[in-house]
Parts: sequence; C-alpha cells; structure tokens
Amino acid sequence: LSSFLVTASSLFTALTSSAGSLVQGRLGQNITMPCQYSVEKHGTTSVCWGKGPCPVFRCSGEIVWIDEQQKIYGQSSKYHLLGNVSQGDISLTIVNVKDEDAGAYCCRVEIPGLFNDLKTDVKLVLQKGEQNTSILDISAHFICPMYLN
Ligand SMILES: *[C@@H]1O[C@H](CO)[C@@H](O)[C@H](O)[C@H]1NC(C)=O
Ligand SMILES: *[C@@H]1O[C@H](CO)[C@@H](O)[C@H](O)[C@H]1NC(C)=O
Ligand SMILES: *[C@@H]1O[C@H](CO)[C@@H](O)[C@H](O)[C@H]1NC(C)=O
Repeated sequence: LSSFLVTASSLFTALTSSAGSLVQGRLGQNITMPCQYSVEKHGTTSVCWGKGPCPVFRCSGEIVWIDEQQKIYGQSSKYHLLGNVSQGDISLTIVNVKDEDAGAYCCRVEIPGLFNDLKTDVKLVLQKGEQNTSILDISAHFICPMYLN
C-alpha cells in the first residue's frame, strides 16, 4: 500500500503542475471528469469538452460545448453536464463508460485574448473486471483536483 501511495502522490504532483487530472474508474460506471473555473474572476464564458488532448485552439473531437449565452450543446444519453454551469462547474459525466471512452480529454474555458484560455487535460483510465482488492477500490475513486487560476 505504501508504494501505491508514493506513486499516487508523485502522479498528483506531475499532473497538477500541468493543469491536468487523472480519473480512474471501471467499465459500466458513470464517471465524472472534473473541470471548473472561477465565474467571479472571468464571468461566464464559452467552454468546450473534446476527446483528445487540448489543441492550440478550441477542442478537437468536440463532445459538449457551451456558448457565450450559456446554452449547452451536444448533451446526449451518454454525456451530461451535471454541475451548476452558471457557477463555473463544467464537469463532464459519461454514463456507462466503455473501453473506447478511456484516454485523453480536454476541457477548455475560452478567455478573451490570445492564449488566455484555461486548458485542462484529463486522462480517463479504466480498470477491467470486478476485482475485489482494496487498493483497486481506493484508486477507483482517486481523483486529482485541479486548480485553474
Ligand atoms: C448512470 O446514469 C444513468 C443516467 O442518469 C442512470 O440511469 C444509471 O442508474 C446510472 N448508473 C449508475 C451505476 O449510477
Ligand atoms: C446554480 O447557481 C446559481 C447561482 O448561485 C443558482 O441561482 C441556481 O439556482 C443554481 N442552479 C442549480 C441547478 O443548482
Ligand atoms: C468479490 O466480492 C463479491 C462480494 O463481496 C464476492 O461475491 C465475489 O466472489 C468476490 N470475487 C472475487 C474474485 O474474490
């Protein structure tokens, strides 16, 4: 267990320093990938979620996006924004995750001006099968928080 904790804390350091997060879960779960921004600081703005790492502009493989009027596009039976979007909680929930959902995601908050966008790379890692070990159960709920400022 202690080697797991060391690994987890060094991952935490590595990932938070690049404004990213690691989310772990299992096939069939509903998984929420965290993303937030400060509405007090930036006002409400447009946001996109894409499959794949954050590109230079916008999101590649756009899944869900929010325009400047805070209208939400792209939600489906699979993808939901369950947080309070008007308070800057733009966490994306994937219902009943499948193998192909694993991998990189980008949450991008568009702030006016060149290269001001708040980009968060999220990595979704899925564990297979129904294992009963407590270490895996801990890691299944291990989420690195991220800070966007
Ligand atoms: C996942 O979300 C769907 C749709 O909201 C719901 O019907 C289902 O019960 C949830 N499953 C779990 C395991 O929470
Ligand atoms: C979201 O936050 C706003 C502002 O605090 C509040 O007025 C609204 O009721 C909240 N909506 C939900 C669905 O919680
Ligand atoms: C996992 O736990 C469940 C319920 O506690 C038990 O029925 C099952 O046999 C266990 N599976 C393994 C592989 O140990």
